[in-house]
Amino acid sequence: MYTFAVIDLLLGFVILLTAIVVVTAVAHIWADVPFIPTPKCVREEMLRLAALHGGEKIYDLGAGDARLLIAAKHAHPSITAVGVEIVPTIWALGKFRIWCSRQKVELFLRNALSQNVSDADCIFLYLIPGLMKKLEKKFDTELPPGAKVISYAFSFPSKKPLMEQSVRGLAGGKTKLRLYQW
Ligand SMILES: C[S@@+](CC[C@H](N)C(=O)[O-])C[C@H]1O[C@@H](n2cnc3c(N)ncnc32)[C@H](O)[C@@H]1O
Repeated sequence: MYTFAVIDLLLGFVILLTAIVVVTAVAHIWADVPFIPTPKCVREEMLRLAALHGGEKIYDLGAGDARLLIAAKHAHPSITAVGVEIVPTIWALGKFRIWCSRQKVELFLRNALSQNVSDADCIFLYLIPGLMKKLEKKFDTELPPGAKVISYAFSFPSKKPLMEQSVRGLAGGKTKLRLYQW
C-alpha cells in the first residue's frame, strides 16, 4: 500500500516536471527570446543609469523571473514596479520570487507588445532585434516625453541612444548597455 502511494507520488512529480519543461519549451519557441537573466553587475549598472526617484513608474518588458524589478523596488521603495512576461512557467517563477522577496512588484502574464506604457517613467529591456523594432514604433506613439528606456545588448533600429557603455555580455564577452530618452 505504502509502496503504491510512493510510486503514485513519484509518477505525479515526473508528470508535473515534464509538463513544466514542455510548456516552457513550447512557449519559448513562440516567444523567440529565451529566459536569460541580466547579470547582477549589469543589473546594478542599469539601475544606476535609471537614476530612479520619487514615485516613478518602471516597467520590465520581458521581465523573466522579475529579479530586476525586485532589486529596483528594494533600492527605491517609493517607485511602482511592473513586469510583463509571456512564458507561463517563467511568470510563475517570477510570482514566486516576488512573494519570497516581500516586495510590492506587479508581474503580468502578457505580451510586451500589448502592455500600455503611456505612464512609464523608465523601461528596462533585454530582448531581441525583432521585438526592439516593434517596440520602437509602439514607444513613439505611447511613451510620454522624457521617458527613459534602458536596453541591454540590443539597440533600436532608428532611435539614437543618449549614451552607451560597454558591459559584460554572455560567456564573459562584452556587449552594450544603452540609455534612450523619448
Ligand atoms: C533575456 S530574458 C530577460 C529577463 C529579465 N528582463 C532580466 O533582465 O533578467 C527575456 C525574457 O523576455 C520574455 N519575452 C520574450 N518575448 C516576450 C514578449 N513578446 N512579451 C513578454 N515577454 C517576452 C522571455 O520569456 C524571457 O523571460
